Amino acid sequence: MLVSATEMLKKAVEGHYAVGQFNINNLEWTKAILLTAEENKSPVILGVSEGAGKYMTGFKTVSAMVEAMIESLNITVPVALHLDHGSYEGCYQCVKAGFSSIMFDGSHFPIEENVEKTTELVHVAHNLGLSIEAEVGSIGGEEDGVVGAGEIADPDECKRIADLGVDFLAAGIGNIHGKYPENWKGLDFDALAKIKALVGDLPLVLHGGTGIPEEMIQKAISLGVAKINVNTECQLYFQEATRKYIEEGKDLQGKGFDPRKLLAPGFEGIKTIVKEKMELFGSVGKA
Ligand code: 13P
Repeated sequence: MLVSATEMLKKAVEGHYAVGQFNINNLEWTKAILLTAEENKSPVILGVSEGAGKYMTGFKTVSAMVEAMIESLNITVPVALHLDHGSYEGCYQCVKAGFSSIMFDGSHFPIEENVEKTTELVHVAHNLGLSIEAEVGSIGGEEDGVVGAGEIADPDECKRIADLGVDFLAAGIGNIHGKYPENWKGLDFDALAKIKALVGDLPLVLHGGTGIPEEMIQKAISLGVAKINVNTECQLYFQEATRKYIEEGKDLQGKGFDPRKLLAPGFEGIKTIVKEKMELFGSVGKA
């Protein structure tokens, strides 16, 4: 069932767990994540970066694929189709394409401009029943061309953006897209606690979910994080399984070159990691 992410994240805050956002790249990714969510009775958010949207020939294609797949696979758990780190223009494109949720990442703008554009997009999204995520501070590292300095969010700025009526908020707390470097200082829980104290029950979003140790994930959830984004880890599981298949020479045996066979181990790899994350986040059985 395609829905906005508002209700599932409200429930997550109340139930002290988090819903995973898993980014999609193609049909295999989408199918693996949807099936895993259904098998584990977990709500799920499919994240689409602007780069991935372009790769899949546009947001309209993505939206049509997801809607059709939900129907053909009989997916009954709540599924949100969400734009990840959207630009102002990208948000409008996704609204038109039939997404159920958008993220406007205005974190690189001066706060006044972030406020102005977020205000406008909150109205647009809510008029159409979509959920909307905003960002304050910035997520470090790079994802599909979106580069962030890794600034810790200012709690007062978080409060300003929260008061605009966004449904969930991404606040930089030392999290980074991609693999964490050896010398990473960890998440800034003081900043998270200060933000939480000001924004109350607004669901908070933890980007850069790949490689964050389990205790930190649990602590973050206890401090109000209700949505955790994972992208790189699915890519790594897919890559590792595909590499193994080829290194074992399986693509050279019989019809092992058939793309449906060649991509099958990677597909299973994504299912494995998504299930692990759903268990860690506590969303299994919550649909
Ligand atoms: P990772 O690639 O580090 O898991 O981050 C995903 C993310 O935050 C998507 O917005």
